[in-house]
Amino acid sequence: MTETNDSGPVLHVDGLVVEYGGRAAFRAVDGVSFDIARGEVLALVGESGCGKSSTARAVIGMETPREGTVQYRGGAVRPLGMRTRPKELTAIQMVFQDPNSSLNPRVRVAQQISAGSRAARARGLDIEAPSHWLKAVGLSPALENRYPYQLSGGQRQRVAIARALAARPDLIVADEPISALDASAQASVAGMMRELCVASGAAMLFISHDLSVVRLMADRVAVMYRGRIVESGPTPLVWSQPAHPYTESLLSAIPKPDGEGTLPEAPATDAPAEWSMRIPEALDRVA
Ligand SMILES: Nc1ncnc2c1ncn2[C@@H]1O[C@H](COP(=O)(O)OP(=O)(O)OP(=O)(O)O)[C@@H](O)[C@H]1O
Ligand SMILES: [Mg+2]
Repeated sequence: MTETNDSGPVLHVDGLVVEYGGRAAFRAVDGVSFDIARGEVLALVGESGCGKSSTARAVIGMETPREGTVQYRGGAVRPLGMRTRPKELTAIQMVFQDPNSSLNPRVRVAQQISAGSRAARARGLDIEAPSHWLKAVGLSPALENRYPYQLSGGQRQRVAIARALAARPDLIVADEPISALDASAQASVAGMMRELCVASGAAMLFISHDLSVVRLMADRVAVMYRGRIVESGPTPLVWSQPAHPYTESLLSAIPKPDGEGTLPEAPATDAPAEWSMRIPEALDRVA
């Protein structure tokens, strides 16, 4: 790809403004800027309605920015979406809260995943069999021949994630990808998404209102409040020294470890430090 630059961030968002409505437009995103590097997970957190999904939709070109720019791999300044070349578009994969919005109800699991693989092959990348990706997301390859309606909600979401991963994306935009899963599956699916993202050198924008999961998987966190990023930084730092009062109140609302209503311990609960250390290694592997 001629217009791209591999040394810079995968995604560069600068001064993004998204508005809804005509004359008295409502500004849902009000000047948001961030970068995401290869193999890095940036979590976007904040209360309902603060503009997280609007930001995500603008990043993937489903929303036209009123102001600001979204640059993908240092590409020419232009919004993603209709004007983006198809090859680039398949390098960006979305995972939504509702897996039904990304799965075709009339297509068997194996074929759904193969559709992702075709996108990878079109970009000259090696592909893996559907069973590989099913195992990667913790599902039995025996589910290959099922239709989406023959799966549980959690299994369906894992298939949607498997399909996105099979496309070997450079950028994954995941908007509440684990919210529909039951509590016991949330941490493990989130951990798995992170592992695969880091290992493949993809960048991920991970949107969640579940801060306990964000703590486990994000390298950096950006806190949104009424359309703006009010604080951002490495996850452990934001956790230990929240600078903005809103962040402090968000964090104080998380159940304490051992408290009632917390997520069960993920296998890799102590992982943030270890995971961060593995990022450079993972980058070496894919370089
Ligand atoms: N298509 C739309 N038309 C008009 N207003 C919208 C539209 N989509 C979102 N909004 C408004 O923009 C604001 C931000 O919405 P957005 O969906 O980005 O929030 P969010 O942070 O993703 O919230 P949640 O955590 O509930 O998913 C909200 O006030 C919402 O009502
Ligand atoms: Mg949302």
